[in-house]
Amino acid sequence: MTSLTTLLPAAAGTGAFPHAHSRSAALHERARAVMPGGNTRHSVFFPPYPVYATHGRGSRIWDADGVERIDCMNNYSSLIHGHGHPAIVEAIQQQATRLTSVALPTESEIELAELLVERLDAIEQIRFCNSGTEAMLFAIKAARAYSGRPVIAKVEGAYHGSAETAAVSSQPGPSRWGPADSPASVPDAGSTPGVAADVVVLPMNDVDNGRRILRGVGSRLAAVVLDPLVKNLGFKPVTQEFLQMVREELQACGGLLVFDEVYSLRLGFHGAHATLGVQPDIIAMGKIIGGGLPIGAIGGRADIMTALFDPHAGARLGHAGTFNANPLTMAAGLAAMRAFDLGAFERLSALGDRLRKGLREALRIADVEGTVTGATSMTGFFLSGKSMSNYREIAALMGADPTIARRAEHVFHHLLNHGVYMGSYGFFVLSTAITEAEVDYIAETTLAALRTLPT
Ligand SMILES: Cc1ncc(COP(=O)(O)O)c(C=O)c1O
Repeated sequence: MTSLTTLLPAAAGTGAFPHAHSRSAALHERARAVMPGGNTRHSVFFPPYPVYATHGRGSRIWDADGVERIDCMNNYSSLIHGHGHPAIVEAIQQQATRLTSVALPTESEIELAELLVERLDAIEQIRFCNSGTEAMLFAIKAARAYSGRPVIAKVEGAYHGSAETAAVSSQPGPSRWGPADSPASVPDAGSTPGVAADVVVLPMNDVDNGRRILRGVGSRLAAVVLDPLVKNLGFKPVTQEFLQMVREELQACGGLLVFDEVYSLRLGFHGAHATLGVQPDIIAMGKIIGGGLPIGAIGGRADIMTALFDPHAGARLGHAGTFNANPLTMAAGLAAMRAFDLGAFERLSALGDRLRKGLREALRIADVEGTVTGATSMTGFFLSGKSMSNYREIAALMGADPTIARRAEHVFHHLLNHGVYMGSYGFFVLSTAITEAEVDYIAETTLAALRTLPT
């Protein structure tokens, strides 16, 4: 590791976080009068107040106090090229003057669909919606409508957006989660027990218990929903053994395999499923395919997609949506995905490898116990070296050792005050706008944070 470069100055004055007299603190107070918590996304809140953004360029973002940072969140992975990529900006500007939304299909929708169908291995046909949540909602409805069966299986602790079925047991508490080998189906607040009754929950990567649970459902199983790289389990990859078991059981009972690649599409140029060598029946997508504008999509086998959605064949599953495939998002998505060619994918993946190597070296030099996870442009960073193989192990670890959360907060604040915006739960998602020097700077700044950890 080289010596600490000063790519970005340390935040000072009211720009230092947290600061009672910062403009962000004032905006937060003002916002709280009209929005509970001061914004409308829990995922962008952090205490005592989140910094409010003003603008971004390339790999950098600026906050309301004028502080510049390297953006390692990239809007929860959706900004594959960072901020203000010239081709995307031009596409949006041109499209905005022509047509933003319209109650007719457009050619731009065909172009993005063609690119994705050609690039993503298991997708023969596709339909667009407006978020990953919606994509998962439709993926689940499609699996149920096609199979004529009610039950969905999902992994405990895996986040699949906020649609009711998808949200079952995405964050269950110990008082309700039941036995580890047969997790209870816990509806999230606002969902009924009836929603959870049609969901079974699998312990992550547990082949024997997973098999037993799926066999218990048998011919009532519509689909198993899997995220190939579960972000909120620390970018935990689904193992080949677990995948194999799921495929065997689905083959035996006739259910469908649904992949949630809303986040993990970044895992492979031809899709996460191609990297894992799997052909799911249905895939939910979102984030990067919209070029920074709101998007979701479901795609998969042509016979399933046609049987459910083709109006020429009766369209068994209704799929409207005022903003579906709006030409503005289609234009942005097309520009982004064209620019994200194989060369860009490989370069970005190498930068992710460089970051993981730098973070591991930082842990070694600082002599701090930690774990670096992830693949391609997605990296997890945890201040514990203990096993974190599933949701319960992670919850138990965090509950038993409060220093882990305290230390993680220290790293997050240190980085925030030295020009790096990482995910507060311990992750970095890179964009193609980032440079090697910036990646090295992130690792070096993390080393400086580790050297001043609280005990
Ligand atoms: C795996 C996964 N599925 C679904 C979603 C929901 O996507 P959206 O936030 O676009 O609704 C997310 C969002 O982070 C996700 O990570």
